[in-house]
Amino acid sequence: MRYFTSVSDIGDLSAALREASAIKADRFRYDSLGRNKTLMMVFFNSSLRTRLSTQKAALNLGMNVIVLDVNAGAWKLETERGVIMDGDKPEHLLEAIPVMGCYCDIIGVRSFAGLQSRDYDYSEEVIGRFIKYSGRPVFSMEAATGHPLQGFADIITIEEYKRSARPKVVLTWAPHPKALPQAVPNSFAQWSVAAGYEVVVTHPHGYELDERFTRGAVIEYDQDKAFEGADFIYAKNWSAYAGDNYGKILSADRSWTVDSRKMALTRDAFFMHCLPVRRGMIVTDEVIESPRSIVIPEAANREISATVVLKRMLESL
Ligand code: CP
Repeated sequence: MRYFTSVSDIGDLSAALREASAIKADRFRYDSLGRNKTLMMVFFNSSLRTRLSTQKAALNLGMNVIVLDVNAGAWKLETERGVIMDGDKPEHLLEAIPVMGCYCDIIGVRSFAGLQSRDYDYSEEVIGRFIKYSGRPVFSMEAATGHPLQGFADIITIEEYKRSARPKVVLTWAPHPKALPQAVPNSFAQWSVAAGYEVVVTHPHGYELDERFTRGAVIEYDQDKAFEGADFIYAKNWSAYAGDNYGKILSADRSWTVDSRKMALTRDAFFMHCLPVRRGMIVTDEVIESPRSIVIPEAANREISATVVLKRMLESL
């Protein structure tokens, strides 16, 4: 595997899930595969889970790890071409990227959507430039439009907890005080459909996601109706995708917060969220602390999805 930015890069999903299960049972089996190989993790945005789980995955495989927080200690980076660099950014990304490539064998990149321009965000320019100019295999640690390591971990988790071959999986929008990207819901919808689940996406009008990610899912504007008979509830906030409203908050409706009344409509569903989560906005304390909440095992599986991806990249070096 040379690049990992989407579900299409994983190939046969069933085979990937079997590989994940085998790695989870024996996560140090390939601990010499990464000997004398270096992973560079480049963060343009904050992270807890991705930072720790991906580093742990690299250690499982015997790799060395370098972490660069672009906004803490590095030169400020110019990203636009054709600009006169007379401002506060002394280095251009187009030199910085190949330089980073000199010091490592594999690069992971986290770069969120700016939510100013849909065309710019959905062109995935930052990770695209790493792919083009680093000379190294590159994987997404959450880019503007997708979070594939999270999507893969989510499917690993559902496979572990599902009680039927084709569970009903509901992705629900929930309120949040800040505008958030669509990356996590895009990936969750895409990976869930690829896994063959019955997928329902529920949100207020105006929050329709890009159809390229939700194709194969049912869109239901009535949250209660969506929850009926669900096996898994996956809560997440996202800002608007459509047209001139791109990146905007259209609703702060707290009636969309996932609470015990709504969970009672389900088929004793498990509650999922990628974390970090704002209690009282996305979900109540009662739901996230309930025995049906699997947010911690879900986060634990980030180590597994990252180990599979890094293992495959090391095997292709
Ligand atoms: N779920 C997730 O990616 O968490 P972090 O932002 O903390 O990495």
